[in-house]
Amino acid sequence: MFVSIVRISQLTKKYGDVIAVDNISLEIQEGEIFGLLGPNGAGKTTTINMITGLVSMDRGDIWILGKEIKRSAQEVKRNIGVVPQDIAIYEDLTCLENVMFFASLYGLRGAELKKRAEEALEFTGLLDRAKSFPRDFSGGMKRRLNIACAIAHRPKLIIMDEPTIGIDTQSRSHILQSVKLLNEMGSTIIYTSHYMEEVEEICTRVAIMDHGKIIAEGTQDELKSIVTDKNSVWISVSGGMDKISQSKLKEINGVLSVEIDDGTVKISTSKDVSNLHKIILYFVENDIFYASAVGIGCNTAPAKGSFFCRCDGEFGGDIGLCCRLLCHSGIPLRYS
Ligand SMILES: Nc1ncnc2c1ncn2[C@@H]1O[C@H](COP(=O)(O)OP(=O)(O)O)[C@@H](O)[C@H]1O
Ligand SMILES: [Mg+2]
Repeated sequence: MFVSIVRISQLTKKYGDVIAVDNISLEIQEGEIFGLLGPNGAGKTTTINMITGLVSMDRGDIWILGKEIKRSAQEVKRNIGVVPQDIAIYEDLTCLENVMFFASLYGLRGAELKKRAEEALEFTGLLDRAKSFPRDFSGGMKRRLNIACAIAHRPKLIIMDEPTIGIDTQSRSHILQSVKLLNEMGSTIIYTSHYMEEVEEICTRVAIMDHGKIIAEGTQDELKSIVTDKNSVWISVSGGMDKISQSKLKEINGVLSVEIDDGTVKISTSKDVSNLHKIILYFVENDIFYASAVGIGCNTAPAKGSFFCRCDGEFGGDIGLCCRLLCHSGIPLRYS
């Protein structure tokens, strides 16, 4: 019988009034590199932490390799390798000692333990640093060691939570290549990121998460089919709606259409023109207050209150500028 490696059903987690994960269901098959993509605060880490049993779920069920984790937590954990978002290594242990320590938690012992630990270091390009202490390492090297600690026991499922945050380009491409290799060697991967471009580069299937919900899910091709040939920007207006001039907005280079509906302005713009900052400036300069701005290349508007740009350069250099503009105008910003 064919069994999916991870099955999540109606998973929910609340922290006080915040619904970190809101009734999500997902199925991940053996052999996939599954991308969980979303802005900061979307609920990715909380989802991962529930899969690994680090955080309890309020509602729902998770099965790993056909076993319900509520009933067989220990058995299930042996099949998982986790690369946590926050680097978890001991700076006063050498690289080799770090990897051997974590691999021993999964039951490896003796010569086998050392051999597998060295293989993991070799795989992450750190074997020549086996006896070094990681305290002087660059962010990228620490991240690679973080990965070595998660893979030495050769888990069937490897979960990587934003493993490329804050590292140099070279380490980043090394990590992305490692993900592909680990997958070719037989591991199923769950990879979270807020970079669309990374997910596009390595993932076979992607779910986009925002505000605790899965807002889109599919293969790369399926997701591309819901992405239009235009960019759409949704701006939710909280005051000064009467000051908006559709014709003035249409004068901005690249703007194709402007629709106003129930407090939201939807602006479609050409993908070839970098104009998001000009659109935001129009609102700022005309004292039109808005509660949130959403920019995405999809057909469907993401959850309100968020700002979620495709990060693959379609808005070009506008993203950074736009974020700064939003910050200066005091608008709650959840994109980074
Ligand atoms: N331990 C916690 N206590 C309170 N709120 C939390 C905790 N962990 C996460 N949250 C909140 O849950 C939401 C989802 O967070 P998280 O899962 O870390 O998102 P992501 O990993 O996508 O950035 C955020 O609003 C965050 O502030
Ligand atoms: Mg996170």
